[in-house]
Amino acid sequence: MTTNIKKVSNGNEMQTLSNSHIKNGKTISFVPTMGALHKGHLSLVQRACELADITVVSIFVNPTQFAPSEDFEKYTRDIEGDIEKLSEFDVNYIFCPEINGIYPEGFQTFVEVDKLQKPLCGASREGHFKGVATIVLKLLNIVKPSFAIFGEKDYQQLKIIQRMVLDLDLDVKIIGLPIFREPSGLAMSSRNQYLSQNEKKRASFIYKSLTKIKDDFSAGCADVKELVNNAKTFLSEAKINDIEYLEIRDPESLALKSVASKEDIAVIAVKINKTRLIDNIKF
Ligand code: PAJ
Repeated sequence: MTTNIKKVSNGNEMQTLSNSHIKNGKTISFVPTMGALHKGHLSLVQRACELADITVVSIFVNPTQFAPSEDFEKYTRDIEGDIEKLSEFDVNYIFCPEINGIYPEGFQTFVEVDKLQKPLCGASREGHFKGVATIVLKLLNIVKPSFAIFGEKDYQQLKIIQRMVLDLDLDVKIIGLPIFREPSGLAMSSRNQYLSQNEKKRASFIYKSLTKIKDDFSAGCADVKELVNNAKTFLSEAKINDIEYLEIRDPESLALKSVASKEDIAVIAVKINKTRLIDNIKF
């Protein structure tokens, strides 16, 4: 397929291109990704194209957000397939830097969003959010967007980035978009590719357990222990027992709740075989 998308792999070149668009009065929207693009990513891309004159999508499997035991090596890389998917949209640039372009020898500056990075995924993935905040800050400095689009699928990540932008006075509007799901309810994820058909079927119970919590809450149960325990029982019936966390939290501070209220969020991380999956639902 022919495409007008320009692929840029050098950070200085990307920054110069962005500078010249800004100088010409154009606005830039930006979708950072690690590639292996699916419809969830593409829903962000679609919105980005609507928001600004120029759309940049980055594809970079960021090594600093993977712990040594995690799937950095195994993570799907399919740049040609990704470009083909993006060519359906009005994307101007794909920024796909090399690792040593982003982290040259001697690199030693990192950003940490202190409290928000600690619970949930931060508790089991040590250093993960330090890697995420650092790469997102670097990408924002390179691409210089007016709008940066993120998915609510990675809810804690979204909150961390919003906080970093506020705390460091970054001149960018962070936009969070809803989770795009398979017809079964399973949240789309690059890691779903690791699942067999049977595991995918089981994984659809993750979202069903969240809707159960929401329904039980709507039916009048606000006791968090009860809500969570009932959902865990439901999950164990679908043979999902490897639950890293299933919690109800305040949507802004991410503080734990003992009594649920209307604005709260239920968040979950489970492992199906070796594949770690996350999801969430707002009440
Ligand atoms: P990645 O997992 O590729 O996700 C890129 C963006 O797509 C994130 O904002 C994520 O929340 C969003 N996304 C993923 N699945 C989605 C779905 N089903 N519906 C809607 N949005 C979805 O998140 C990362 O990459 C990285 O941590 C990154 C921010 C690029 C930094 O390296």
